[in-house]
Amino acid sequence: SLWRDGVSYAHAPDLTHYLESTFVPSVVPQPDEYHAKDQARQYLEKLADQVSPGAKLLPFGSMANGFALKNSDMDLCCFLAKDAPVREPSELVEILGRLIEQETNFYVKMLPRARIPIIKLTIPPSTDVPMGMACDIGFENRLALENTRLLLTYAMIDSRLRTLVLFLKVWTKRRKINNPYRGTLSSYGYVLLVIQFLAHVKQPPVLPNLQRLSSPDGSAAEETMFDGHDISFFDDLDALPSLFQTTNTETSGELLIDFFRYFSKEFNFTHQVVSIRSDKGVLPKLQKGWHVDFEFDPELTVRDQHKLCVEDPFQLDYNVARTVTRDGLYTIRGEFMRAFRILTTPTRSPEGIGAVINS
Ligand code: GTP
Ligand code: MG
Repeated sequence: SLWRDGVSYAHAPDLTHYLESTFVPSVVPQPDEYHAKDQARQYLEKLADQVSPGAKLLPFGSMANGFALKNSDMDLCCFLAKDAPVREPSELVEILGRLIEQETNFYVKMLPRARIPIIKLTIPPSTDVPMGMACDIGFENRLALENTRLLLTYAMIDSRLRTLVLFLKVWTKRRKINNPYRGTLSSYGYVLLVIQFLAHVKQPPVLPNLQRLSSPDGSAAEETMFDGHDISFFDDLDALPSLFQTTNTETSGELLIDFFRYFSKEFNFTHQVVSIRSDKGVLPKLQKGWHVDFEFDPELTVRDQHKLCVEDPFQLDYNVARTVTRDGLYTIRGEFMRAFRILTTPTRSPEGIGAVINS
């Protein structure tokens, strides 16, 4: 039906059609882009091998999780061989960074003293790489690799997740609310919001909670610890149908409208934490101790209720939305409300829907 809880879903069919037949195909990278990036990765891996024999460069982030847009950055993580001498990431940033500078035409920026030391590489546009390329290399970041695999597993379960995420990535970039360095939320944070919405808010759920699903033989997911974090999740997609099959038949257009509804009207930003691994999808800030100033920032003494809290699925003490300022949250919520309003105004023409993205 077109109306649900006083909200018009009249645009949902057009929106779904637009998302699936026009939008998604136009924003995803083509095979040649993946190929060019993998070539670059292999070349950089050879250089890493010169620094530490047996070193591997593995992709994570959007190039590996199913949510890449055309020309998105390539996130790589360097892992040293098990028997290689232990070296500090900060040292590796400098050694490998200098080697890349000598051997390639990448422009190299080394950040050895960042919280997570990385090498930032950019290549200007050329005939080979018409849009140029940007690449970050980090070190020994097993958690990033595992959360990438978690996101990829969710992406493979239901294509509506990918449709929603790709739309949100383009839209949040256009609306300038996808910039952790400027007080808003990272792409990773937005993906967690969508998973929480599809696995916990929607009834019936579109996605299972892969961190709570137990194996067919009745045993719980095997506990695998890394660095004090439980990184296990259900990843046996062949066995999934006997445990979880969605009965939710909503279209991606309906789900998108409802996502905006939930995060502009329903979610309690003051008291709740978004937590995809939890039973209900939300936890009280109080329970996590996130109601108080966890950043120890004297500027933010009234902080707390204006903080957006998104729990990392593995690093439970880590707020993925820690970069979101009070103003940033205000802007994000304003944008969610605006999108919801545009998408649910029945008199608006279908072209008007484009205004959500474009204006
Ligand atoms: P685009 O670069 O915008 O295309 O998106 P992306 O999917 O690559 O996301 P983003 O650059 O935000 O993050 C890349 C990867 O880094 C994520 O998939 C995570 O694996 C990891 N990551 C990013 N931010 C965080 C964070 O705050 N905490 C943790 N633990 N990992 C993060
Ligand atoms: Mg990225």
